[in-house]
Amino acid sequence: MRNARTIPAPIKRDDSIETAQPARPLVHVLADSSDKLSGICAALGPRFAVAGERLDAGAKLSQVPSAVVIRAELRDVDNIAAIKKRAAKLAKATKRIFLVEHACHVCISQAYALGATLVLPGPLNKTTLLAALGDPAGPAAPASSRSTQLDNAVETAATAIASMFTSVTLGQPLDVDGTKEAGRKIADRITQHGLSEWLTTVRRHHEGTYQHCLLVTGVTIDFGLSLGVGRTDLERLYAAAMFHDIGKAQIPLAILDKAGRLDPEERALIETHPVAGYDFLKGHDRISPEILDAVRHHHEYLDGSGYPDALAGESINDIVRILTISDIFAALIEHRNYKPTMPRAEAYHVLCGMTEKLEKPLVRAFKAVALSR
Ligand SMILES: [Fe+2]
Ligand SMILES: [Fe+2]
Repeated sequence: MRNARTIPAPIKRDDSIETAQPARPLVHVLADSSDKLSGICAALGPRFAVAGERLDAGAKLSQVPSAVVIRAELRDVDNIAAIKKRAAKLAKATKRIFLVEHACHVCISQAYALGATLVLPGPLNKTTLLAALGDPAGPAAPASSRSTQLDNAVETAATAIASMFTSVTLGQPLDVDGTKEAGRKIADRITQHGLSEWLTTVRRHHEGTYQHCLLVTGVTIDFGLSLGVGRTDLERLYAAAMFHDIGKAQIPLAILDKAGRLDPEERALIETHPVAGYDFLKGHDRISPEILDAVRHHHEYLDGSGYPDALAGESINDIVRILTISDIFAALIEHRNYKPTMPRAEAYHVLCGMTEKLEKPLVRAFKAVALSR
C-alpha cells in the first residue's frame, strides 16, 4: 500500500505505515500531525497491525479496520471536515476511539458528534489506549441486526447528550425537542429489548458523564414501565433523566471523572450542578415545571440530608423520587476503567440500606428493575 502518508521514525516501514498482517487485527490511526501519528503507531505497533494516515492527506487507506484511533485538535474546523469526509468508512469500525488533548466538554462533545464510541481525554496514555482497544474486533463483531439497532440507539442518544453539554458550555440555546426525541428512542428500545441489553450496550460504548446520563435514562424508563406509568408520565421521566445532570457541563472533567476521592472543595463544586442545570433550563420554553423540579432536586433525600434545598418528605415529588433511585443505581453500576463494575444485586443492596433517604415501597418496587429486567 503506497497511498498512506509517509511519517518520520520510529515508524519506518517502506515509506508507508500501513503494516497490516493477517494474524493481527487492523487498527487505523488518524492524526493531525506526523508527531501524533508516529507516537500512536509506535504505541500500537507491537500488538496490532497499524495503518496510519494524516488527516490533511487524501483519504486513501483502503481496508476497513476493526478499530479506529483518532488524535486531533477538535476545535479546528479543517480537522472536523477531514474526519467527516471519512465518516462512512469510520462507521464500519467496531471501535472509534478519539484521543482528545484538551479535556473540555466542547472537544469531547465534538468527538461524540463525530461518531466516537469512546473518548479518552488528556495526554496519550499507552496503557489506557491498549486496554480500550483490547480485542479491537470487540464483542459486537460480527454484529447482529438487533445489536446494530441498539448500537444506533445508543449513538443517537449519546449525540443528543453531547450536543446538550455543548450548548451549555457555549451558552447556546438547547435543542429541547431533539433531546426529548432521543429519550423517546431509548424508551422504544427498552420497551422492545429490555433494560439489560441497554445497560450492556451503553457500558461497552461510553465512559464517564455521557455513559451515566444514558444509563440513568434507561433505568428511569424501565422503572417507569415496571410501575405502569402512563405515556405522559413516561415522557416526563425520560426527559427529566436526559436533562438531570446537564449542570455538570459547567464542571471541569478533571473533577467529574476523577478516579480518587474528591476533596471538600471539589465536592462543593460538584454539588452546584443541580442548580446550574435548573438555571440553564428555566430559560427554555418547552421545559415543564416537573422537569425543572427533577433537575434541581434529584439529589434531595426524604430525611432532608440532600442538596441543594434540603427538601424533606412530602416536598419531594414522585418523579424526583423515581429519578433519584434510578440515578443512584446507575452511578453504582457504571463501568469505569479504574474500578470494577459493581454487580446489579450489590447496587440494589446499597439502595436497600438507604432506608431513611429513599421511599421504601419504591425501593421494593425497584427490585425487579435492579435484578431481573
Ligand atoms: Fe446529579
Ligand atoms: Fe446523575
